[in-house]
Parts: sequence; structure tokens; C-alpha cells
Amino acid sequence: MTGVDADLARARALLAGAARVVVFTGAGVSAESGIPTFRDALEGLWARYDPEALATEAGFRADPPLVWRWYAERRARVARAAPNAAHRAIAALERTGRAVTVVTQNVDGLHGRAGSTDVVELHGSIVRAKCLEGCGPAPAGWDRDARVPPPCPACGAPLRPDVVWFGEPLPPGAFERAERLAGEADAMLVVGTSGLVQPAASLPWAAVRHRRPVIVVDPNPTALDDLATVGLRGSAVSVVPSILPSGPIRPDASAP
Ligand code: OAD
Repeated sequence: MTGVDADLARARALLAGAARVVVFTGAGVSAESGIPTFRDALEGLWARYDPEALATEAGFRADPPLVWRWYAERRARVARAAPNAAHRAIAALERTGRAVTVVTQNVDGLHGRAGSTDVVELHGSIVRAKCLEGCGPAPAGWDRDARVPPPCPACGAPLRPDVVWFGEPLPPGAFERAERLAGEADAMLVVGTSGLVQPAASLPWAAVRHRRPVIVVDPNPTALDDLATVGLRGSAVSVVPSILPSGPIRPDASAP
């Protein structure tokens, strides 16, 4: 058995024996759905912009139409995209009798569209909008309003994407729940994140502190590789479906 085969077998055993699984994902899990990762170079019209400048409240307030259009283009790309085999395999894991929570940094909504029912969207969702000044969620039909951006019907301020911008806090309670679940999981599967952005990237460390196994899947080296119980070099679609169990929990499987 080669080293890679042994790693795959170890990952399969850990997941087969896990009753509680936390799946922590980043942009890489959606790459094979045609959605560029966050650190892919922006394309075309947007190539001259720095996403970390656009994805801020200051950037939005400086030019609401520009930032609104950027998100509208990303929203249209997400609407055209479909969940891939990795999203679907993660959703199918719930149907094996395991408690599965997906904690994602992605704002594309593809885990939910794949059928995952317990998804913690640490960075919000591009398919939702809200009032810039805090009135609350945008009313139904906001995404059919051609104004750029549409105004909040309550106060007239611009609507903004319901995503976490740089420098903003995460949704209340989201990280705390994710951190608790990471410490309680029988296994954590990490897919497609560079592990560069805090506090999200500290979640695998919560699993390690509680001596929970962490499996990291990525075609490239990441900042989380050193903490991995098992590190698998490969894409989400080529690896994730091949390591997730399709049968019931096997308590004996992950015994050393
Ligand atoms: P990054 O763009 O930083 O990292 C994407 C990861 O996906 C990299 O490690 C790639 O190697 C990997 N990858 C690429 N193609 C893949 C594939 N086919 N299968 C699996 N992995 C693949 O994106 P994130 O780590 O998600 O935050 O970035 C985290 C956060 O940084 C984003 O949520 C965003 C940004 O700041 C906010 O917007 C608040």
C-alpha cells in the first residue's frame, strides 16, 4: 500500500467510525462548480480591483453601485453554478445516521442547495441582502429590483449584501457554535481552505485541542497542513466522495 493509499484508508476509517462530523469548508469546495476561489485573481472587468478593498463597508460606502454590481455578478455566477459531487457527498453523509454540521466560509449557498441541512455560514450569504444602516433583512423581491443598489424600504439607505466584510464581526453565535462542535466532533473534515483568515481558520485548532482527528483535503499546501491527522492532496471532487462513508456508523472502524 502506498503512502497515499494508507492516508486514504486512514481517512475513510476515521470518518466511518465517526457519529458526529464537522465539515469545515472554504472556497476550494466550490471551485469545481465553476466559482473562483477567493484568492483567485479577479477576472475581466474586476481584475484591476482588490477584493479586500471591495469587500469592506468603507469600500461599499465609497461607491455603492460599484460594489453592488460586483456582488450582483457573483450572485449571477452562483445562480448558474450547481453543487458538485463534493457538496452532494457531504449532504449525503447526513443520510447515514451521522450528526453532520457544515461550517463554511463560503457565501455561495451551494451546501444548502446540495441538501445539507445544518450549515453555519460564518461569512454570511451572497444570496441575501440587508439594510446598510441596520433596519434588517431586505424584503422579498429585492433581487428583482433593478436599482443599483436598491434602497431599504424602511429608511431609504442602500441595501448591502448580507456577507461579512473585512473588519466586520461574524454573525452572532456562529463562531461560538462552530468552535463548540469542533471540540465535540468525532472527526473534522477540512476541504478547500487556505486557512489564512481568522477567526474561521482557528476552528481546526479547536478540534486538535480536544484531540479530535482532522482530515485536510486540498490540492495545494495550506496553513492547516501541520495540524492534520491525515492530509490528502487532491481536489474536493476527486477526494471527498471517495472518503465519506455511505453506510451506517462503524464504531470499531477508527480504532487505532
Ligand atoms: P482561498 O482562496 O484563500 O483558498 C482556497 C483554497 O482552496 C486554497 O487552499 C486552494 O488550494 C484550494 N482549492 C483550489 N481548488 C480546489 C479544489 N478544486 N478542491 C479543493 N480545494 C481547492 O479561500 P478561503 O480559504 O475560503 O472571507 O478564504 C477564506 C476567506 O478569505 C473567505 O471566506 C473570505 C476571504 O477573506 C471573507 O470574505 C470574510
